[in-house]
Amino acid sequence: MQDTYQFIGEDAIFNLKNAENYSYLYFPVAGEAGIKSAVTPNLSGDCKIDQNTFILEPVSAENLHNNRSSRNFWCHVANAGNWSATGISAEEESKKFTGLSDKNEVTAGLMWHTVTRTSDKYQLSAEITSFVPVDENAEIMYVEITNIGKMQVRFTPTAAIPLYGRSADNIRDHRHVTSLLHRIKTVENGVLVTPTLSFDERGHRKNDVTYFVCGFDGNGEPPKDFYPVVEDYIGEGGNFERPEAVVKNLEGVKAGCSFAGCEAVGGLHFKEVVLEAGETVSYTVLIGALKQQEAAEEKTDYENTGSDTVTDWKNADVEHGIAELTAKYKTADKVKNEFARVKAYWEEKVNVSYHTGDLVFDKYIHWVSFQPILRRIYGCSFLPHHDYGKGGRGWRDLWQDCLALLIMNPDGVREMLLSNFAGVRMDGTNATIIGERQGEFIADRNNITRVWMDHGVWPFFTTKLYIDETGDIEILDEQAAYFKDRQVVRGTKKDDAWDEAYGCWQKTETQEIYKGSVLEHLLLQNLTAFYEVGEHGHILLRGADWNDALDMAPERGESVAFTNAYAGNLKDIAELLKTYQEKTGKSTVFLAKEISVLLGGDGKLYDSVEKKKELLLSYAESCVHNVSGEKTEVPVKELIESLSDKAEWMMDHIRSTEWVTDSEGNGWFNGYYDNHGRRVEGEFEQGIRMMLTSQVFAVMAGTAKEEQVKEIIKSADRYLYKEEVGGYRLNTDFDEVKMDLGRMFGFAYGEKENGAVFSHMAVMYANALYRRGFAAEGYKALSALYRQSVNFPVSRIYPGIPEYFNGRGRGMYHYLTGAASWYMLTVITEMFGVKGKCGDLLLMPKLMPEQFDKNGLAKLSLFFAGVNCQVIYENKEKKAFDRYQIEEVRFDGRKLEQEEWKADEAEKSAIIPRTKLEEAGKMLHEVYVVLK
Ligand code: G1P
Repeated sequence: MQDTYQFIGEDAIFNLKNAENYSYLYFPVAGEAGIKSAVTPNLSGDCKIDQNTFILEPVSAENLHNNRSSRNFWCHVANAGNWSATGISAEEESKKFTGLSDKNEVTAGLMWHTVTRTSDKYQLSAEITSFVPVDENAEIMYVEITNIGKMQVRFTPTAAIPLYGRSADNIRDHRHVTSLLHRIKTVENGVLVTPTLSFDERGHRKNDVTYFVCGFDGNGEPPKDFYPVVEDYIGEGGNFERPEAVVKNLEGVKAGCSFAGCEAVGGLHFKEVVLEAGETVSYTVLIGALKQQEAAEEKTDYENTGSDTVTDWKNADVEHGIAELTAKYKTADKVKNEFARVKAYWEEKVNVSYHTGDLVFDKYIHWVSFQPILRRIYGCSFLPHHDYGKGGRGWRDLWQDCLALLIMNPDGVREMLLSNFAGVRMDGTNATIIGERQGEFIADRNNITRVWMDHGVWPFFTTKLYIDETGDIEILDEQAAYFKDRQVVRGTKKDDAWDEAYGCWQKTETQEIYKGSVLEHLLLQNLTAFYEVGEHGHILLRGADWNDALDMAPERGESVAFTNAYAGNLKDIAELLKTYQEKTGKSTVFLAKEISVLLGGDGKLYDSVEKKKELLLSYAESCVHNVSGEKTEVPVKELIESLSDKAEWMMDHIRSTEWVTDSEGNGWFNGYYDNHGRRVEGEFEQGIRMMLTSQVFAVMAGTAKEEQVKEIIKSADRYLYKEEVGGYRLNTDFDEVKMDLGRMFGFAYGEKENGAVFSHMAVMYANALYRRGFAAEGYKALSALYRQSVNFPVSRIYPGIPEYFNGRGRGMYHYLTGAASWYMLTVITEMFGVKGKCGDLLLMPKLMPEQFDKNGLAKLSLFFAGVNCQVIYENKEKKAFDRYQIEEVRFDGRKLEQEEWKADEAEKSAIIPRTKLEEAGKMLHEVYVVLK
């Protein structure tokens, strides 16, 4: 029988029996101080702070079953054998597939993971909990061993954690040479590794990090002795699955020993224990790294270390820091207290809760809501499938993750938006190397001038949500700097006058840092795109659009898909400006003088590809080095007209040129032109070519008329929908390695960007459908993803949404995906229909009958306007969305008059003014909506 996980208790905790029988499972465990770990049911996986500070050896997905040199905890039972409490032993491996393996299961909640294992042979069971104290640079592995038999058991425990201690780059680049840098030391409670250098042939640097594995037993006793050197630990001809030191229970080295130039292992050899039947003994293992600087901050008495040289002094300082850090977790009680604190901390971060007729969905979406927090911490690297990049996130990820964070933690988002806007260049493109700290953008020294044509789209999406949620329309007037580096004229030229001394901020002729309003940034991003067109009048694909794998049509490729998105933005910015005018009473705005040229134009200009390109070039050339710094006053009315005209022209142009049909009479929008200038979608000799992204933005922006939306749905169901792999696939099988469009066509069909169910776009499809009022159809897309995700026997992932489902339906690249932000957002703002409207609370539920519980209720709790709100929908007759209307709204039990809430004639939505919520105060308030 196939196992599947079960949700147990509160807070979306789940349990999976026989977890080690499933490949590729990994789980994130991290803190806020920098430690990022991945753990598998056998406690394989890795642990790191950043690309250059890997404590355990970096692993990719394929290493999860090949690399057995990870966290281990051994019990040497004299005359019986050696039991690995993590299941990584030669003995246990030999039992695989025989049905005789130890029983094991994983139980996990947000940022904690417990694996239990029971051995009939040794009459022992182990429970190992992994978590990271919120502010500490150490992963804790808390081990409890219990005698489950009737007889006394006598054993010697050894924790064995190989310490890699260097940069991920060195996994292949000088793996051996970098071990020569290691200086290993045993201290009272563990093994420390301080490499002498940080190896980099472009310039070696002095290393200032000490890696450690330390531990205590539950009473605070340190290990008896240590096995710090891999060669000695495994023994000549031995390995981590049958290490000689454990098998022979060898005497280790005492504290205070040093070794140099070899691979290290945190081998903590504890004293023998005698466990009576039913008794439990516990151990705490701390795995981490500390920088000299951090240690200095933690130090209290380093002056008294008595060391001679500065280096010794600093190392002593780190040792002291590690001793202090580990001492905080000296006893089992201290560890348990911290564990409780960690659990509460992360649960509090997810401050939205969902209640529908499907309990599993409610728990599932809790995990999805946690994922944007995980991506904030892990970036797009650092989990086993995410074996690329060096940490950090890309531009579009940065903006999209903000969507979810905005809902869960709006404090500080304003600042975050403003600092992110400073990544925009004067030519409308943006920095692509994003630093660790908020608002830190790094000039590209490698001269890679890749411009992703979709980058300009996302900031407005996020800003609009921010304004709707908060009512803070004044943010449009806030001033932000512009990013400056050598790249100019939208990545086509170099500014040779720029050097690092100029700095990363755009200056004026008078050498001052130039600042413009948020509105100006948005206009630049969207208007420059409007002019950057290819031969069919749509925006050039350049380096790629959202689909990173459409990267081989830089000259003639066009993305109609994202031309829709830009058109939608121009239309929505125009709408927003109307509100701006009303709310602020301002009728003009100040914009950089140079921008005026982008605002003009008429149908004649729009129709001419050449003229548009010329105009863009003349604008971009006008701000190659410095800008004038002068501003022009522009009437808002004119701005609105200009943006609306352009949006309308784009949409009309797409409607009249890009609707394709097949011989069965199905219709949809073409979304791309390849590098030969050929239309990509439609019916071809090789079959039907249809892409989901092209439909998503046509529907979302409003290019697709109502009838066309219906046609698109029909075509997507006919050509893209496949229930067994999670719903709507990204594209049909082109059956051609299209060298003139992108690397995606080199991937096997059904994998990743080539026709997998790619969650991000499938969710955006749902979002677009909901927005256009197609609730049942949007639900179908979201529900297929959900059902696939929680179908563990096929998806093989823990709860949450993966980046995509492969051709076999397996969830891939779990956890770190922009799909999570969009899924959560769509559930809250569309499915539950709880969203801001320029600061007021708008309720427009689009729930399906089966989403109400047996009492006809569906509930959503979240913070809005700083107020803890519980929105309850009552739909006693379980009517469908197109049949229900809002009949009554109660606020904290008081029935509101219709004039107080009515938002539209059809009575589909209600609005609660922000002031009403604010007046009511911060505690929990109930908004009860009766649907009839
Ligand atoms: C990943 C990338 C994202 C990119 C997408 C499609 O998707 O992170 O930037 O747009 O692939 O190529 P994710 O699932 O993280 O959204």
